[in-house]
Parts: sequence; C-alpha cells; structure tokens
Amino acid sequence: MLKLTNVCRTFNKGTVNEKKALVNLNLHLKPGDFVTVIGGNGAGKSTLLNMVAGVFPCDGGQIELDGEDITFLPEYKRARLLGRVFQDPMRGTAGNMWIEENLALANRRGKRRTLRWGITKEERARYQEQLQVLELGLEDRLSSKVGLLSGGQRQALTLLMATLQKPKLLLLDEHTAALDPKTAATVLRLTDEFVKRDNLTALMVTHNMRDALTYGNRIIMMNAGQVLFDIEGEEKKNLTVEALLQRFQSAQGDALVNDRMLLS
Ligand SMILES: Nc1ncnc2c1ncn2[C@@H]1O[C@H](COP(=O)(O)OP(=O)(O)OP(=O)(O)O)[C@@H](O)[C@H]1O
Ligand SMILES: [Mg+2]
Repeated sequence: MLKLTNVCRTFNKGTVNEKKALVNLNLHLKPGDFVTVIGGNGAGKSTLLNMVAGVFPCDGGQIELDGEDITFLPEYKRARLLGRVFQDPMRGTAGNMWIEENLALANRRGKRRTLRWGITKEERARYQEQLQVLELGLEDRLSSKVGLLSGGQRQALTLLMATLQKPKLLLLDEHTAALDPKTAATVLRLTDEFVKRDNLTALMVTHNMRDALTYGNRIIMMNAGQVLFDIEGEEKKNLTVEALLQRFQSAQGDALVNDRMLLS
C-alpha cells in the first residue's frame, strides 16, 4: 500500500545547521494497517509524514502509494489521495466558513465544483447524518462558523472531513496532543471507529505510549531518522508500556529524561 525505500531527507545541507531528519528509511504498509508511530523529539516522525504528503522533496529513495510511484508527485496532487489531521486544530478546516460550507468542500473534493455555492436540501441532510456520527451535536449547527467551535469539536470535524472520501492513506500527526484528556479520548475513539469502518490505512504519530499500544495493529518506533523497531499483531497486543519504555530507553538513553513522552 505505502512503500518507502531508502528515503532520505537532510535539512540545511552543507551548513552548520545540517540535520539528517530521515536516513535511508524503509517502511512498508499493508492495506488496512493502522500504524502508531512513537519516538523522541526530533526523531523524524513529522518529517516522515511530510515526506509522504510531498511537503518536502526526497533527497534520495522512493515512495510508492498503492502501486504508484509518487516520489516526484507534487503535494497538491498527493492531497487527493491522502487525509491529514495535524496537531493544531486550526489547520484542516476554514474557521471563517460555516460547518456546512466546510463539509461541502470535503464532500465535493476531487469532483467538479460549480461556481455557485448552492447546497441542496439532500446535501444538507447528508451532512447532518455525517455529523451525527461525531455525537457532538454539530448536526444542529450547520450554519455556525467553524471558528466558533472548541478545539476538540474542530478536530473531530477535521477528522470527519479528512476521511469522507476514504483516502488511500490517513496521516495523523499528534492530532490529539493539543486537546484536554477527555476530548482527546473522544477524537481518538472516532479515529479508531473511522479507520475500522472504512478499513483505512493509517499512520498515527503520538507521544502517548498507552495510546500507541491501545490503537492500531502495528507500532513503529523512530529514532534518528530511522525505524528502530516495528511490531505488529499478537506481539503488539502483548506489549506493555513498561516493555515499550525499556526498549525506548535502551535506544535513546538519557534523551528520554527531556522528552515530553506521556505515560498515561
Ligand atoms: N523544515 C525544517 N527545516 C529544518 N529542519 C527541520 C525541518 N523540519 C524538521 N527539521 C529537523 O528535522 C529533525 C526531525 O524533525 P521532526 O519534526 O520530523 O521530528 P519529530 O519526530 O516530529 O519530533 P517531535 O516529537 O518534536 O514532533 C529535527 O532535528 C528537526 O529540527
Ligand atoms: Mg513532530
């Protein structure tokens, strides 16, 4: 489904600030894999997602998605194939537009858009159905500005919009990190629900080890721009936070002390 072969990315090459963010990274996702990604600050997690999304060009290596070589495909073309949710709830939705306008954009994504904004009765009914799944009461607020929603409501809406067109790959970069624990749990539950319902393939970066163990069928740990370990299936199910922490510590040493890794 997603295949990265020897992908490299160095920032500020040839300067004192040179940083090798990804070093010959190899990763192969099978269709339906829900992979949680952990690793310390600067390990290259966000860079990995950004490379897949085409935000930065590869310095070397190859990226394939669903059998297609997308290494040189520009970001806007890859966007049609991907769903993305970021840490910042402000990204991914248009705050000065109504909920229904945002949903119209997401529903019409990839289809021919007319210049007129007209949203039909049928469309409105469909948006309400889609919003009901979130159980946040947003179905009664179709003409509320998205900017007035709470961070959690907005993040849930972003998630809904990112998955409406069943993307080939869903990229989640600490998408619950800016939310309070209860709201974060709701958005995570919805994430899990959508991924399972549509059998999506997903990469979810998290600093929360417990979430990384609870969700998904596979877990990878990154360190210094590479995949340090990759555990799936039964072996992942049997992993404990303690065991994970131990592997993390032996890989990172003292770096963990300064890390914002959450254990609960
Ligand atoms: N646009 C950029 N320009 C320069 N350096 C960058 C850029 N993006 C990332 N880096 C560097 O690449 C390395 C990997 O960064 P990345 O953001 O991928 O880490 P991360 O694993 O997501 O960390 P965090 O847990 O803090 O989000 C870091 O050293 C970072 O400073
Ligand atoms: Mg990051």
